[in-house]
Amino acid sequence: MRTITLINGDGIGPEISDSVVKIIKASGAEINWDIQTAGADVIEKEGTPLPQRVLDSIKKNKIALKAPVTTPIGRGFRSVNVQLRKELDLYANLRPCKNLPNIKTRFENVDLIIVRENTEDLYAGIEEQIDENTAHSIKVITRQASERICRFAFEYALKNGREEVCAVTKANIMKLSDGLFLESYRNVAKYYPHIKQREILVDNLCMQLVQDPTKFDILVLPNLYGDIVSDLTAGLIGGLGVAQGANIGHDCAVFEPVHGSAPDIKGQNKANPTALLLSAIEMLKYIGENTYAQNIEHALFKTLANGNKTADIGGTLSTTEFTEEIIKNLG
Ligand code: NAI
Repeated sequence: MRTITLINGDGIGPEISDSVVKIIKASGAEINWDIQTAGADVIEKEGTPLPQRVLDSIKKNKIALKAPVTTPIGRGFRSVNVQLRKELDLYANLRPCKNLPNIKTRFENVDLIIVRENTEDLYAGIEEQIDENTAHSIKVITRQASERICRFAFEYALKNGREEVCAVTKANIMKLSDGLFLESYRNVAKYYPHIKQREILVDNLCMQLVQDPTKFDILVLPNLYGDIVSDLTAGLIGGLGVAQGANIGHDCAVFEPVHGSAPDIKGQNKANPTALLLSAIEMLKYIGENTYAQNIEHALFKTLANGNKTADIGGTLSTTEFTEEIIKNLG
């Protein structure tokens, strides 16, 4: 039996984790969940939102499934999500974005892969208050991290039969930092002559994505642009409730949805567990449990195709009703 760390998060985290754990159990996949709490709820008892035991558990098990954890906005503790990615050097944030059955959106055939650098950029969290009216944030871009993420994107393209890797920057303005990212992309791209190359500025990309996302394949971006563009691309396939993701490093991988803890619908049995479920399906594939992964994916697609959906994607089912439907459709 495989042991996997489960961070069930806060906000809607516990509701969607419960749903996904039930579905995986019903599929017959034998997973022993090592449940680890993190975030605001553990600060009082343990003095930190990300206790060492969470990191130790992931280092030991190598794989984690993670529901969202709230980060206070404009004050308070540093993001647990950002710390986790940094501490475990989960340098690649992979966010596939593909249409799902029976979720009507503006475009059909969206099939994009976002590869977001996950350890530096403005997310390094280096900020200083100069005076009452001025604050600085430092954007850190290194050749090592930029080449590493571009190599990941090209390798992903090769392994998954994708045609193009497009570098996204604002190198016309941030000539040194984004310029270094672009130079790193060009250095790496030389080794992949069979994969098409393309460069685009992030503002132009956003305009083109909302006009016709089918013109793009794999996008490789520094951290902040990757964060923002992947919410945009989530919108192209039905919203945050269906947008999956994974944070991948050399030693460990943490699978988590793109969305946050959705405090506005917390505890209302309304949350869509699809994004976490799709992340878990990728996790099962990653550990070689393809049969279970395919069975769950098939059950999810059948449920959606039958018109059984949560409210965020135009349906009427609660989280628990949607979960039961998926379980009924398992082969
Ligand atoms: P959010 O993603 O939590 O919510 C944005 C909107 O999408 C809300 O209206 C919410 O109800 C809806 N939504 C999100 N997930 C949904 C789901 N599964 N089903 C149905 N509707 C869903 O973004 P927001 O409000 O900006 O952030 C809330 C908190 O989450 C913040 O503290 C933020 O820092 C944190 N966060 C955590 C992340 C993580 O743990 N990886 C990622 C993003 C945000």
